[in-house]
Amino acid sequence: MIATVTLNPSLDEWMSLPALRAGELNRATGFVRYPGGKGINVSRVVRELGERTVALALAGGEDGEILRRLMNRLSIPHDFVAVEGTTRNNYKIRTARPRALTEINTEGPRASRSVLHRLEERLLTHRPPPQCVVFSGSLPPGALPAIYRRWIRMLEPRGIPAILDSSGAALAAGLRARPWLVKPNRSEAGELLGVRLRRLVDVAQAARRLVARGPSLAVISLGPDGAVLASRMSNRVLVATPPTVPVDSAVGAGDSLVAGFVVGWLRSRSLPEALRLGVACGTAAAMTPGTELCRRADILRVKPRVRLRTI
Ligand SMILES: Nc1ncnc2c1ncn2[C@@H]1O[C@H](COP(=O)(O)OP(=O)(O)OP(=O)(O)O)[C@@H](O)[C@H]1O
Ligand SMILES: [Mg+2]
Repeated sequence: MIATVTLNPSLDEWMSLPALRAGELNRATGFVRYPGGKGINVSRVVRELGERTVALALAGGEDGEILRRLMNRLSIPHDFVAVEGTTRNNYKIRTARPRALTEINTEGPRASRSVLHRLEERLLTHRPPPQCVVFSGSLPPGALPAIYRRWIRMLEPRGIPAILDSSGAALAAGLRARPWLVKPNRSEAGELLGVRLRRLVDVAQAARRLVARGPSLAVISLGPDGAVLASRMSNRVLVATPPTVPVDSAVGAGDSLVAGFVVGWLRSRSLPEALRLGVACGTAAAMTPGTELCRRADILRVKPRVRLRTI
């Protein structure tokens, strides 16, 4: 079972409009609400792949209640800790002209020390103990950047590997706890290392440098160019290139990659196989609209077409 942790989830409000005009009344032609948050996305994709998951998160107020109901409707097992205040809303505005996605994110409710402590207890006492824990996304107000580091360290003596997909200070601090896997994208990795990652060789070198900082594995995702994987066990870097596909929205592609990689690893214990399934899930997510992540049929079609090589 794969546990995910989302400290700053959201209710995502998706709207479609022919065009968006500032300062005028705009009428939406479509509206749908989805549970948002990176760990929650990972859990959705783990379910789509047919494996067991639990999504741990903080939720509060009326919107937190709606979030719980949406999780139930999607049949995603979850364990939410109540926070004071209300779960945030993120607005996703899809326009036809120009064909674009405009996003407005709000700040989440404050996470008090006692709330974070409660979530920590749930994480450490969950039955059955998870096979691994995915820490994803930004931190809410009140959570210190070292929170993921603390939890990764607490899981280590229990033999539970951690996956870290965050950015900025939370990523930098978390790396020092030596998680099993980190999964920044090109710009997150570049920001962390203070370099611009233009060419593939630069990305491969960056993945090696990340591994030198503590994690066993580093995957740097590259959008349509796929992903690279460096491992502490080898000097070679694995490169996975997806096929060209019709792209709708790449929202949640990175989260889908993480889910596919972890499921692939747990099933096969093979890194090439894990990377192949991860990249197939990311690419399948890019093929669907933003509210959807990836469909099993697309994953199965894309997977054999992912090209793997080492450099
Ligand atoms: N336009 C695309 N075409 C094909 N595959 C894509 C495209 N965009 C993303 N992917 C797939 O999804 C994976 C992850 O994408 P990306 O690097 O954009 O993650 P990310 O920036 O972390 O995304 P997120 O917004 O979910 O955090 C890539 O490795 C690739 O397999
Ligand atoms: Mg990402």
